[in-house]
This record gives sequence, C-alpha cells and structure tokens, in this order.
Amino acid sequence: MPEDIILRTHHLSKRFGKRWAVRQVNLEVRRGDVFGFLGPNGAGKSTTIRMLLSLIRPTEGDVLLFGRPLRSHRRESLTRVGGLVERADFYLYLTARRNLEIVASLRGGCPKQEIDRVLELVGLRERAKDKVKTFSHGMKQRLGIGQALLGSPEFIILDEPTTGLDPQGIKEVRELIRSLSVDHAMTIFLSSHLLSEIEQTATSMAIINRGSLVVQGNVRQLLNEGGSVVRISAEPLEQAEEAARRFDGVHSVQRNADVLEVRINPEQVSALNAMLVQTGIRVNSVIPKRSLEDFFLSITEGTSDIQ
Ligand SMILES: Nc1ncnc2c1ncn2[C@@H]1O[C@H](COP(=O)(O)OP(=O)(O)O)[C@@H](O)[C@H]1O
Ligand SMILES: [Mg+2]
Repeated sequence: MPEDIILRTHHLSKRFGKRWAVRQVNLEVRRGDVFGFLGPNGAGKSTTIRMLLSLIRPTEGDVLLFGRPLRSHRRESLTRVGGLVERADFYLYLTARRNLEIVASLRGGCPKQEIDRVLELVGLRERAKDKVKTFSHGMKQRLGIGQALLGSPEFIILDEPTTGLDPQGIKEVRELIRSLSVDHAMTIFLSSHLLSEIEQTATSMAIINRGSLVVQGNVRQLLNEGGSVVRISAEPLEQAEEAARRFDGVHSVQRNADVLEVRINPEQVSALNAMLVQTGIRVNSVIPKRSLEDFFLSITEGTSDIQ
C-alpha cells in the first residue's frame, strides 16, 4: 500500500446484538485529505470512528493505518493518530494549560514546549492561565481538539466537532480545521450529519447510511456530478421555458410549480441568464440545485436515532 494512503478499511463491520451498526465499510483516506464522513444520526459514524481508534473491536473486517493492520500494530500506529470522540471532558476549575498537562501525563508526559505548541495551534495561548469554566463552547471544543493534538499526530479523527456549537463556535472550529490542514499539513477525518459542514471543510467525503457506505469521492466532483441543475424563477415563465429549451448547452428543462429546473453545463449558466434577459424576460433568480443535496436529503428522510 503506498505511503500516501493514511487509512484504509476493508469490509469493516460491527454488530451489536442482532443489529449491524456498520456493514462492510471500505474507506480510503489519503495523506493531506480533509475527509468528511457524512451521515444522519444513527448511521454508524461514531461506531466506525471507535473502531478506527481501536476503542471497540470490529466484528468483521480490518483497519489499516499507515499501511499496517491495526490489529497487529495498534500501539505504534495509534501514537501517530489523535482522536476526539464525543465531547471532551475537562476539569472546569483548572486552567487550560493544566488540563492539557493532565492529558499529556496520562499518555506518559511531554515537554512544556509541546503544551505551548498546542495552545498556540488552537489559539488559546492567551487564555492558557484561565480556568476552563470561563470558556465558551467553541473554546472548549478547541481545547478538546488540542488534547487530540498532543504528541504531534499526523492524522486526527474528530467525531462531529461542531455539533452543539453556536455559529461563532462553529466558525472557530472550522477555521482551526482548515489551518491544521493548510498550515500544518495534517490529514483530518471528521464526521458530521450536515452536508453543508462537509461541503465547507472537506476535500473528500463518504456518505454512510444505516451502517453502509453509499458513496465516496472527491467533494467537488460529487457536488457537480451529473451536470448541474439550476432553478430559474422568471416572468413570463412560458416564454423562459421555450427560450431555455432552444439554448445550446441545456440538456433538459422541467417545469416544477412556478420555477424551471434546467439541467445545463455549469459554465453556461451565466450565458443562459444573459440570453433570457436580452429576450426581454424578467429573471428573478437563478439558484443552483445540487444532486448530492437532494440525494442526501432523500436518504436522511425517515431516518432517525430510533431505527
Ligand atoms: N454500544 C452500543 N450498543 C448497542 N447499539 C449501539 C451501540 N453504539 C451504537 N449503537 C447503535 O448503532 C447504530 C449506529 O450508531 P452510531 O455509530 O452512534 O451512529 P452515528 O454516530 O452515526 O449517529 C445506532 O443504531 C445505535 O443505536
Ligand atoms: Mg455519533
């Protein structure tokens, strides 16, 4: 296996009692990826992540980290991986620095400079001496990611790092993830139940639903798959529909209530818009509709924690 594949799973499966929580999942994460693991609640994301971090044992299948089976190389592989599963626990009445020191000492200790490095990385250097109870949710989550970053891992795995945060906290964590990837060349695996979250942070992604992998690939490619469809609201609609049908680069036009759904080459959307306007049609809006969005919504519907 080439060195640029950080993680590969082969038929990874987990059964709880009679129910398969994760079924035959094959994932591939390459060096430098921000890999988004997307799925509705109860899809099997946390169960998969627990197996990746060797917190639970797979019922079937294998995890390969850095090209080696986790079963036989657990200790050496996991020292190169940082993980944050669920919310991190803190000693609220101790400082941020002390909390990191405690986690570090549980893992065999680390030099003071390493704590400084991590505090700097997660943007908490200035607040290092403050008690964690004074921190916002976003700051706590960044400190949690800081715990995962102790020991300079090459690969970090974060389970729903933005869930439960307010918009400011979400922004802080998103920026931290971007900086870890871009400025510090880390490979990142993160899960979410929101497509928008993955869309904004990830470079590659996989969708899991009811324990099985649905799709996997490059985020941009998946989002643009099948040509793009735009929703056009215009007046008069009949005239717009006729003009759109005649336009080069338009594959199909469908009338859906009071909008047109036009399948078109993405590069020609603005030309179509210009043509409609020149024809004297009033174009109120042109909004892209993505296949992945519809697809994800369709698998999310009717799925919940209680299956
Ligand atoms: N320890 C467990 N015992 C029994 N069932 C579990 C356990 N952990 C998770 N499950 C079940 O496995 C399925 C997947 O759960 P989980 O991996 O937590 O999903 P997600 O993280 O995508 O929301 C759910 O049906 C959940 O109830
Ligand atoms: Mg979960």
